[in-house]
Amino acid sequence: MSDQPQESLPTSKVARAARFAKTGFKVGANYVQHYAKKAVGADATTAELHQANAEELYGTLSEMKGSVLKVAQMLAMEKNLLPPAYAEQFRQAQYQTPPLSGPLVVKAFRDAFGHSPSEVFDEFDPNARQAASIGQVHFARKLGKDLAVKVQYPGVGASIQSDIAMVKPVALRIMGLKEETLRPYIAEVEARLLEETDYKLELSRGQAVAAKCGHLPHLQFPAYYPALSSARILTMDWLPGQHMKEFLATNPSQEVRNQLGQALWDFYQYQLRELRQLHADPHPGNFLFSTTNGGTVGVLDFGCIKDVPALEQQQFLALLDPATLADPGRLESLLTEAGVLRPGDAPALREMYLRTLTQSLGLVGRPFREDTFDFGDPSYMQSLYALGDDLMQDKDLRQQREPRGSAHFVYLNRTYVGLFSLLTDLGAVVRTVPAAA
Ligand SMILES: Nc1ncnc2c1ncn2[C@@H]1O[C@H](COP(=O)(O)OP(=O)(O)O)[C@@H](O)[C@H]1O
Ligand SMILES: [Mg+2]
Repeated sequence: MSDQPQESLPTSKVARAARFAKTGFKVGANYVQHYAKKAVGADATTAELHQANAEELYGTLSEMKGSVLKVAQMLAMEKNLLPPAYAEQFRQAQYQTPPLSGPLVVKAFRDAFGHSPSEVFDEFDPNARQAASIGQVHFARKLGKDLAVKVQYPGVGASIQSDIAMVKPVALRIMGLKEETLRPYIAEVEARLLEETDYKLELSRGQAVAAKCGHLPHLQFPAYYPALSSARILTMDWLPGQHMKEFLATNPSQEVRNQLGQALWDFYQYQLRELRQLHADPHPGNFLFSTTNGGTVGVLDFGCIKDVPALEQQQFLALLDPATLADPGRLESLLTEAGVLRPGDAPALREMYLRTLTQSLGLVGRPFREDTFDFGDPSYMQSLYALGDDLMQDKDLRQQREPRGSAHFVYLNRTYVGLFSLLTDLGAVVRTVPAAA
């Protein structure tokens, strides 16, 4: 990481609000410039405007760290919610935050254990190896083991709620949405973000998932060390492997890419069908890829886990079931059950929902309708994003400013779109229908 370490974080509410207000002005100024250019007939594209705003917003977010950056990452995952410029800028969020200085890291250790890192470990690299949204990861050794130590930025837990309160209006404005209609969905996201600040919870969830999924082939989970962990420090095995981008640059064979993709697919199917619990942050930074044993995926970051209630699990599976799409009556009753269609809807509105949902489910459910699916064909993901764009532009749909359906679907959708995007990046051919027992 080449950025200068940060000596302090703008942690006080006032300082953070001030920083954010500055961005607000800058974004406002970008708009003024845009329209001024337009007024004099100069060539000002909307894309240019988005680019300028995205850069400004991103700069502010990465200085503020914490939950703000996490919100940005979530937005980036939902590419079709954001103009492309924002999505691209925020996709890099996980990799490009300036690191915390050594003294702040030592302070975090003293607060948690009463000892400095060099007293706790046999070896501790004071320079972070990876920066992340609400923490940074150091390399350490103890008793001959290579360890990853995630240290949370001080003040994140305390400021997360006020951060969300600040990001909310900006994010909603970018997306052109109203808060009242989004309340249950926002509450769902806030709940997950708050959980992420508790590394003790992440530790117990990581241990539980590793125990339940340890038998799945070609996956690797770190062991966690409770005695070396706290609410803000998480110590686990250092996993080998590379991030997606670096891994792909080594030109792995198609066989390896297929095995990695299959491992990811099976992992998510097992979690949804058997555990009703999802690793709901399929950001590329949370997986490490290696060619070991023909392709192994290391799974990291159990900070965002979605427990899926039985009802929503059944509805989700039923909606993706190929038989549903072939039977409009069944689709209609399922959508009514799921709260997407309402008994009082005017016929035209009902038609509109049925039309857009048949289209969406047809596309999202496509991998489930074939025995093997080639995610290497980029046109699939492109049509998913194009559909998202179309729906955003859809005049009838835009008038329905109020989203429908259970808030539990927020993370279910996000997880599957994220998974599909990972598999597309890998270019994997995946057996999507389990072999008959
Ligand atoms: N156990 C580990 N072994 C190797 N690298 C790790 C490990 N844990 C985290 N990292 C590195 O640190 C980065 C951020 O860790 P992560 O747990 O995803 O943080 P966050 O919860 O803030 O997103 C990962 O992308 C990965 O590169
Ligand atoms: Mg992560």
